[in-house]
Amino acid sequence: MTGNEKGGTGKSTIAMHLIVGFLRKGHTVGSIDLDANQGTVTRYLLNRADFAKTRGLRLPMPEHHAIKLSTLGNLEDAQSDERNRLQETLEYLSARHDYVLMDSQGSDTYLSRLAHSHADTVITPLNDSFLDLDLLAEVRGEPPEVIGPSRYSEMVWAMKKIRAERDGGLIDWIVLRNRLTNLDARNKRAMADSLHQLAGRMGFRIVEGLGERVIYRELFLQGLTVLDLRDEGAKVPLRMSHLAARQEVRILIEAIEAGMKRDEPEEPEEREEAKEEEVGARLLAQEAGSERA
Ligand SMILES: Nc1ncnc2c1ncn2[C@@H]1O[C@H](COP(=O)(O)OP(=O)(O)O)[C@@H](O)[C@H]1O
Ligand SMILES: [Mg+2]
Repeated sequence: MTGNEKGGTGKSTIAMHLIVGFLRKGHTVGSIDLDANQGTVTRYLLNRADFAKTRGLRLPMPEHHAIKLSTLGNLEDAQSDERNRLQETLEYLSARHDYVLMDSQGSDTYLSRLAHSHADTVITPLNDSFLDLDLLAEVRGEPPEVIGPSRYSEMVWAMKKIRAERDGGLIDWIVLRNRLTNLDARNKRAMADSLHQLAGRMGFRIVEGLGERVIYRELFLQGLTVLDLRDEGAKVPLRMSHLAARQEVRILIEAIEAGMKRDEPEEPEEREEAKEEEVGARLLAQEAGSERA
């Protein structure tokens, strides 16, 4: 899922690119819009379906759900309503798809916290300025010094704990800078240094970010992403900056996949078990085959 506590940092843009990225790798994908008020990802997918229809294209699509905030007046009722709907949707989609992607709103809500506590991977984009370091930690002074965690970091820690207690799962927290430019190289380096220092203290890892590129903005109305540009019928001439954008998105996807592989059976015993199961399954298949023959 994507998450932070600020609007306009690229959560929905990144969510859309991850949805299409995993689809284009041949996976099936479920998607959840937790920011149903803005509905960016929902509208984007509607645009995508329209565009495909009018152009006669076959664009890969996820199975999409939007989760609206509860309208119940009583706080407890509202929370249990949201909890039930999120859990049902997550169970439904994870049983059917290889990946489930959630796009969250940029504010601290019950629904967003809950979603974090179910995530395997949280992707936090931030704009490339010292102002946005605030999203991760309270930073003051010159040279900048970390005073303590931000509200959002504290929330992620709390959800990591809830997740671990619930099912022993780990949340892989990825931070990436968005809208990188070449301007003011010295400031950028200082920002990168501060971010690296924070990573260890706050428990996230840093993945190479996305550049500031018009193409990330241009494709919304067609419901396309930079990963769709090679499709015949998309009719957007592929430029150097588009190739660079595609590469940026691929690096992010590979980083997410690498994080998920770390959670796979590593223990020798588990590996043995996995092997035994595989051999067992093959024998069963052979038996079934000879019976049929
Ligand atoms: N790397 C980028 N380059 C150029 N524009 C971007 C980039 N990332 C996001 N944007 C634009 O910034 C705006 C906010 O992005 P959005 O993904 O909606 O943020 P959020 O979901 O965090 O509120 C959108 O208009 C989007 O097109
Ligand atoms: Mg958004």
